[in-house]
Amino acid sequence: MQVHGTEFIALHGRASSAILELAPGEAPLWRYWGPRLADHARPHGPIRDGRARPSFSLDHDQPLTAFPTFGVGWFGQSALIAHRDGRDFAQAFTETQVHWIEPERRVELTLIDPVARLSVRVCLAMDPASDVLTLSSRLTNDGPDDIEVQWLAAAVLPLPPVASHVGYVSGRHNGEFQPCEDRLGRALWRRENRRGITSHDAFPGAIVREAGATQDAGLVYGAQLAWSGNHAQMIEWLDDDRFQWQLGEGFAPGEVRLAPGASLVTPQVLATVSGAGRNGVAQNFHAAIRARMVWPGGAMRPRPTHLNTWEGVYFDHDEATMKALATTAADLGLERFVLDDGWFHRRDNDTRALGDWRPDSRKYPRGLAPLAAHVTALGLEFGLWVEPEMVNPDSDLYRAHPDWALRIEGRPRLTARNQLVLDVGRPEVAEYLFSQLAALLESLPIRYLKWDHNRDLTTAGGPDGRARYRTQTLAFYALIERIRATFPAVEIESCAGGGGRIDAGVLRYAHRVWTSDCIDAVSRVTIQRGFLQFLPPEIMGAHVGAAPAHSTGRSQTLAFRAAVALPGHFGVELDAGALSAADRTELSVWVALQKSLRDRLHAGQVWLGDAGDNLLWQAHGQAADLILLVHRMAPSTLRHTPSVRLPMLDATRRYRIRRIDPPGPGSGASAATANFAALKGDGLVVDGAWLCASGLTVPPSKAESCAIFTVTAL
Ligand code: GLA
Repeated sequence: MQVHGTEFIALHGRASSAILELAPGEAPLWRYWGPRLADHARPHGPIRDGRARPSFSLDHDQPLTAFPTFGVGWFGQSALIAHRDGRDFAQAFTETQVHWIEPERRVELTLIDPVARLSVRVCLAMDPASDVLTLSSRLTNDGPDDIEVQWLAAAVLPLPPVASHVGYVSGRHNGEFQPCEDRLGRALWRRENRRGITSHDAFPGAIVREAGATQDAGLVYGAQLAWSGNHAQMIEWLDDDRFQWQLGEGFAPGEVRLAPGASLVTPQVLATVSGAGRNGVAQNFHAAIRARMVWPGGAMRPRPTHLNTWEGVYFDHDEATMKALATTAADLGLERFVLDDGWFHRRDNDTRALGDWRPDSRKYPRGLAPLAAHVTALGLEFGLWVEPEMVNPDSDLYRAHPDWALRIEGRPRLTARNQLVLDVGRPEVAEYLFSQLAALLESLPIRYLKWDHNRDLTTAGGPDGRARYRTQTLAFYALIERIRATFPAVEIESCAGGGGRIDAGVLRYAHRVWTSDCIDAVSRVTIQRGFLQFLPPEIMGAHVGAAPAHSTGRSQTLAFRAAVALPGHFGVELDAGALSAADRTELSVWVALQKSLRDRLHAGQVWLGDAGDNLLWQAHGQAADLILLVHRMAPSTLRHTPSVRLPMLDATRRYRIRRIDPPGPGSGASAATANFAALKGDGLVVDGAWLCASGLTVPPSKAESCAIFTVTAL
């Protein structure tokens, strides 16, 4: 649309808008990304009409564009770092073609640099349902020589001057999704990942908030890159006090070279802004991720509860033990039996056998078919653990094909967990892996694959000596896509030593992630809250583990372990056969509770909150019908427990609140007052206005306990 002769591109979501100015002779200028504007609201004119030319500046002022580039007047970070053997190091896109795919929703901007002979297509799509803006770029080499590409931003986003802090998650194996926050200033903020998979350390996304924004109020921006390999993101302060935020793939030196006519397409970035604080951003991300997922049968079915064998038995497999475990799982009410690591040829420990994907004839003399038949006869689904991209040097596969591992000639092959990484970009390797997986999937009633990847990439070179990180990620996507296409009924879990490959890219193919190898419920509360900032609960693998927890040595009650796992994709991962009769009964009550709540836990929205005094809460569902979990993480420091304020409720309605967690030794419940007794009985009816403003009085509780409530509008 034109205003005073200036043309603008406007994309409108439900509660957010993005506006770009089409300026002749340059890439479109970023004018606005923020809370929803009225449909016809536009800037009063071109950006340069509103700002004077500062001293010691170019005569032609250069504001932030949708794709700023180095060397011809832009002094900030470039969206493209590329050259042709040292030439065409500077780029300027002087022609723009606008192609609307859907008015006010989806647009493609083709930017042309006739001097460097490059073009870039910037795609922007606003989804009104989620308020998420999806961006990507496609670079095409229109010149006669190859170009080397060091950086190609998948998105360039503007942030307003009020942006004050960037929040993100960091971590390690057994400690993913730890919350971090940095103040934005004039120094460049940058996070990178060079581990070849998404990594435990640097989830490829962040949130940016204005000063004073909280969990449930204030302006917060979020972005995440849908990519499972190396990546980088940066936030840079600009001369007009705004910031630019770039996200994209990370390339190794020389990794990307485009031949004449060739294109490079970036992964997508999901970006959103909310005036409803961090929860608003999380809710938008959850909606967008849900819309991207591809489920067997076209829609998600209730998430089957699992028994996973790993921490229960580790490598100690045999048919009789596993059958007994499956029977126990069925008795507990579980619905899927996942046979984890240890089932295949000579796999007695983690030093050998990766690559040899056939059952161990010592542990399973009749193969896996009798176990799978037993599992399915019990009414459970059968799932199997695999780690396709890996090979142990002590394996038949490696002895036959030592050249199949990623390597750099002349350098030692660095093992991690005693294993090397296969060069899946080689067609013969991908074919081998497909045939191995297909043989299993064809011969056994497997409905679920847990797809693991237990190390970072090093010496990731191919036969030509060039870096293969990007090729590896794309080859992984191609392999998993081929498996999905050939076996469409099979669900897949993405695991990489717990949460090393969790991102919106892999979630195009996978249906669950293994959030962390740390199942300690106290640690898990932090991990899961970090996770939920970016991704929805139904894909968040969450298990009831043993006490003491294997990863930390800390013990929690069964009730607390179960309550913490309850909101995710629920499972049990312990030696179920060794549970006491009382524990079995208690656990089966929790399994039944989870199954009765999962439809509400896994639809609608999630709100996270902190009531103070070591009380963390989360609510799932619709504001009119919530499941509320209140975790006491550490002993109270107060004489009286603080109230839990529920800001999402409708102040004009009344709500019935009932406490629903099963009574048990670990529930920490107290029924000492009339209110608390009512919560356990027919429920307490409270005004929404009161709950929004003052909050729910919750019973006192012991450390490491959780109270669960339903909050239902009358
Ligand atoms: C990784 C996974 C675990 C388990 C082991 C098996 O560590 O995260 O859940 O599958 O591998 O070796």
